[in-house]
Amino acid sequence: MVVEPAASDVASLPGETLPGHVAIIMDGNGRWARERGLSRQRGHRAGADRIRAVVERLGEHGVPIVTLFAFSTENWGRPRGEVDYLMRLAGRVIDRELDSLDEAGIRLRHIGDLSPLPGTLQRKVESAVARTAGNDRITVNLAFNYGGRSDIVGAVRQLIADGVAAGEVDAEAIASRLATADLPDPDLLIRTAGERRLSNFLVWESAYSEYYFTPTLWPDFGPQDVDEALGEYRRRRRRFGLIPERQAEHAHPDA
Ligand code: IPE
Ligand code: IPE
Ligand code: MG
Repeated sequence: MVVEPAASDVASLPGETLPGHVAIIMDGNGRWARERGLSRQRGHRAGADRIRAVVERLGEHGVPIVTLFAFSTENWGRPRGEVDYLMRLAGRVIDRELDSLDEAGIRLRHIGDLSPLPGTLQRKVESAVARTAGNDRITVNLAFNYGGRSDIVGAVRQLIADGVAAGEVDAEAIASRLATADLPDPDLLIRTAGERRLSNFLVWESAYSEYYFTPTLWPDFGPQDVDEALGEYRRRRRRFGLIPERQAEHAHPDA
């Protein structure tokens, strides 16, 4: 093996060891419930109850931005009763958690299309986002009725509406019109429950994310799992298509 001191310099940079943005596909609520002979609704409730501890742990580590995939544009295809329950649950979680989220300095943000949601839920999300807008300890970005492809479609429509000429279209022109325009791309993307796919989550933004898959079902995922995922991230060597020496030069422009 070739010893590459430059590569370990890169690894020791704080920005390389702690993800600036962690995105989580919270999957496995249904399987968790089935294993216990419970309804899928109970699984979703148990899943919702895990969010707080996981966000807190990420905050303790100093992760500033967390995106949580809670409802996809494809999830509308589930039975009506389950969809209705997920809508009610989202409202209940906001009601229950908002005061303490706000006190804990958490800024809530939303990506996705609010318009097809029940009016009461739309207003709850909007007022929670507005109320916590000045908080800066940690940003929790809730992906609810979010789909990566539909976000890209929206960005392309916006480009056309803005009259951007074909020759002016570049990655930056698209990225700046996505729902995540003001956020850095996720450094670490976690998916629970054993599935190894993106399921239309952050398809543009995760082009260079590190993926962490765990068989643990979301309602069983906790602070210790956060520690493990961050530990694994620390051991990854990101290259962004470069070779490590070049990467080190980029990291130390005046070295
Ligand atoms: C994730 O759990 C929550 C949502 C997609 C809303 P699932 O409901 O997908 O759980 P499984 O995959 O059926 O176990
Ligand atoms: C992805 O999980 C969506 C959320 C976790 C909100 P799904 O359970 O909907 O994804 P698939 O169907 O397994 O791809
Ligand atoms: Mg699932």
